[in-house]
Amino acid sequence: MKITEQIKQPIAFEMDLFEQKFRLSMSSKVALLNRITHYIVNRKGKQMRPMFVFLVAKMLNNGTVSERTYRGASVIELIHTATLVHDDVVDDSNRRRGFFSINALWKNKIAVLIGDFLLSKGLLLSIDNNDFDLLKIISVAVREMSEGELLQIEKARQLDITEAIYYDIIRQKTATLIAACCSLGAASVKPESKDVETMRKFGELIGMAFQIKDDLFDYGQEKIGKPTGIDIKEQKMTLPLIYVLNNCSNKDKKWLINSIKNYNKDKKRVKEVIAFVKQNNGLDYAVAKMKSFRDEALELLSVYENTEYKASLELMVNYVIDRKK
Ligand code: IPE
Ligand code: IPE
Ligand code: MG
Ligand code: MG
Repeated sequence: MKITEQIKQPIAFEMDLFEQKFRLSMSSKVALLNRITHYIVNRKGKQMRPMFVFLVAKMLNNGTVSERTYRGASVIELIHTATLVHDDVVDDSNRRRGFFSINALWKNKIAVLIGDFLLSKGLLLSIDNNDFDLLKIISVAVREMSEGELLQIEKARQLDITEAIYYDIIRQKTATLIAACCSLGAASVKPESKDVETMRKFGELIGMAFQIKDDLFDYGQEKIGKPTGIDIKEQKMTLPLIYVLNNCSNKDKKWLINSIKNYNKDKKRVKEVIAFVKQNNGLDYAVAKMKSFRDEALELLSVYENTEYKASLELMVNYVIDRKK
């Protein structure tokens, strides 16, 4: 059995029902909107965020979830989808999930509005059902994501990013949403428990490992359904490059900075930068950091009773760093 099927086994029923509910959650009276949201739901991603929501809820509540859990999972996936649609505008990227991105097919104007529509649908799903505690968790994540994206742009312009700032960026733009999945999963079944905070921290640590993995993909050639090798072109500095910049001679550092500043669209030069990062152990360093975030996350699970849900969560944590896309 594939590892993803194995992970999903204890939540197979919930994920099926979730998919139906998720489709419905996007509906609109505007034909153009429906055409585009159909395009989106028919090219689904890995759905890791709803999986985290259900696994956490079931682990904490003897294998049962509530309607709140389903709504929370839909809201999170709606918001995740909205941010991807916007992200491809921001990053000027034309591929997503193995197909054309929304901006590639319908242009930026429409992509911006589609992202806003999905975001509002998500927020309303919580509001219409009085899930205000869940809405709070989600709204914090939305604010953090936009701040993280802007911090990334600010630092890309200055080319002076440190490892600490990189962690701030990825915590905000990616880890907070995965933290929200896990704390919301807990809050949906045990609103007042201290598990809500433990699970938030757990999700945050996985989210850090998740984004380091995503940034490592950019240095590879594997087919992952979206472009690789675009970060340097966009002057986005990620952990492998940051590590090498801070651990090479002044002469090499000057060459690297000059390459990123003035030759970031020069394919041959970008290849040389990538080769330099690899030769100087930038990838190895990032892999080691990713694994240490994973280990910290697994440590937080150790206090919980061994159930099939916990076993799946552990598999999921390892899947985050071993995945092929
Ligand atoms: C991509 O997330 C965006 C990042 C935070 C790196 P996923 O890799 O979970 O995207 P899908 O939903 O599976 O396409
Ligand atoms: C992830 O950013 C998207 C958000 C967290 C908003 P990236 O730009 O790094 O992700 P991909 O690689 O395009 O999915
Ligand atoms: Mg981006
Ligand atoms: Mg992107």
